[in-house]
Amino acid sequence: MHVKLHVWRQAGPDSTGRMETYDAEDISEEMSFLEMLDIVNERLNAEGKEPIAFEHDCREGICGSCGMMINGQAHGPQRGTATCQLHMRKFSDGDEIHIEPWRAQAFPVLKDLIVDRRPLDAIVEAGGYISAPTGAAPDANLTLIPKEVADAAMDAAACIGCGACVAACPNSAAQLFTSAKLSHLNLLPQGQAERYQRTQAMVDTMEQFFGSCTNHGECQEACPKEISIDFIAYMNRDYVKAQIKNRKLLGQS
Ligand code: SF4
Ligand code: FES
Repeated sequence: MHVKLHVWRQAGPDSTGRMETYDAEDISEEMSFLEMLDIVNERLNAEGKEPIAFEHDCREGICGSCGMMINGQAHGPQRGTATCQLHMRKFSDGDEIHIEPWRAQAFPVLKDLIVDRRPLDAIVEAGGYISAPTGAAPDANLTLIPKEVADAAMDAAACIGCGACVAACPNSAAQLFTSAKLSHLNLLPQGQAERYQRTQAMVDTMEQFFGSCTNHGECQEACPKEISIDFIAYMNRDYVKAQIKNRKLLGQS
């Protein structure tokens, strides 16, 4: 295959970025999208030019680091797929492919296709954990959890923190990410003790950085783990409850 790439190049956070064009020749359709970028970078290196900076780690859809906009779509044209799992067979010989970093005010560009996603970490740091000592691993099935609940918690836990939901949202909202990180704890018995403090702290932190949700649903479409916007409804319900329950707790102290 021979494809033409239009890639966002930006030397640093304070530099002015621009689109640059590269020919990617002799590309196998069996290559992953990132392997195609590796080949382009090897050629740029051989010519003494600066390679394209992009983030990646696991290359198997687990770590969430590889996100980029491909032809205006977060993670590219294949649904339920992180950029690293996308293959060149999804494109055709002669295609022109536009590659850009996530576009969101909360994710400033660090270099080329790499953005700073630390606001997502701030949300998790605000309460995305269980602080009570839980002891050693209990025997399986010691705590009975209905299968539907366990399945829903597992679906939420699939979030890899990639930020595609934010990049795809016209409001740059992080509701899908936050609701997934809340739900995988709030649905389970172990998460109940801190459920409402956690919900308030994580939602309040989210609102410091990100826009508001107006139910476009683009986040769900872009999510490589196909996480449902139903979790957002669940988070909103818990947030309303948290306003009352946390006040009651304050009254007792
Ligand atoms: S909810 Fe989906 S799109 Fe958003 S950060 Fe998690 S995995 Fe990525
Ligand atoms: S490189 Fe880890 S999810 Fe893509």
